[in-house]
Amino acid sequence: MNFTGAHILTVSQFQREDVDRVFSTADSMEPYALRKRVTRVLEGAILGNMFFEASTRTRVSFGSAFNLLGGEVRETAGFESSALVKGESLQDTARVLSGFSDVICMRHPEDGSVADFAEASRVPVINGGDGSNEHPTQALLDLYTIRRELLDKGKNINGLSIAMIGDLRHGRTVHSLTKLLSLYDGVRVTLVSPRELSLPDGIVESMRNAGVDVRIRHELAKSIVDVDIVYSTRIQEERFSNKQEADLYRGKFRLNQAIYTQYCQPNTVIMHPLPRDSRSDANELDNDLDDNPNLAIFRQTDNGLLVRMALFALVLDVADKVEKFSADVNWYNSRQSSKITR
Ligand code: CP
Repeated sequence: MNFTGAHILTVSQFQREDVDRVFSTADSMEPYALRKRVTRVLEGAILGNMFFEASTRTRVSFGSAFNLLGGEVRETAGFESSALVKGESLQDTARVLSGFSDVICMRHPEDGSVADFAEASRVPVINGGDGSNEHPTQALLDLYTIRRELLDKGKNINGLSIAMIGDLRHGRTVHSLTKLLSLYDGVRVTLVSPRELSLPDGIVESMRNAGVDVRIRHELAKSIVDVDIVYSTRIQEERFSNKQEADLYRGKFRLNQAIYTQYCQPNTVIMHPLPRDSRSDANELDNDLDDNPNLAIFRQTDNGLLVRMALFALVLDVADKVEKFSADVNWYNSRQSSKITR
């Protein structure tokens, strides 16, 4: 695909070589994410960061990624602080805000809303999550993390075995990640959820048509015995029409250290797109896993910075100029001695 000026709305836009390009560009961003170097390659550029639904890591990591490339960030967070509450359409909002920005990132609770917005935008729009539909940048950072974690174990994405657990019906990160995994060979995906929260049939069918070995399960223990990755997700209570219905499913598939030790292979990687629900009635990923070296959840968030920097650099066509506009850092940097994902 031609990244320059492109909207990033769905992972369906990507072929294997496009994913490889994002990943190699993300690798090249590590010195800047770690503040070993600074770059001003996007000096003067403005990101419009528009989040009409709650977010911590996606919103802040888009903003930080843009700042790390030298650009400025303008934020709109929540309907109540935008003219959408006065009845302005998303399209008019796009026409206005694309006059102020060089690229826009957007999250919105309705499926398809970011694509509708992008149609009226004069600048590239990146989907930060639209309803239950897709979360393409999360899927890219998840796959980037999977690739790095497997590399350490002498494996690669071809031949991967992954268990995806939780609310697969509403989980947009799962919807996007399963589509990306379909680009690879010999992948086995075990879907573990309550029957009512199964992955939509259309996505399962597409995966099978692409050659993925899809197994559907409703019980945790046997499903995590022989997998490279356990990918846990939260019950997406904001997608249910009433909270009582979400309560029926909360806490059904909990992973803690005792269950991990009993059922998983010793080197199974534990992932979660976050936020994990740490309330006692949910606790899908227990805090007692925090010292487990295979818990990759904060490596995922670190990697998100690299992947989002890569996407900005590709969409704004500066990927090959980042180093030219770089310099040494001037301040004490506690990250100097660390690697981002280790
Ligand atoms: N993973 C993710 O989308 O997290 P936030 O909701 O905090 O952005």
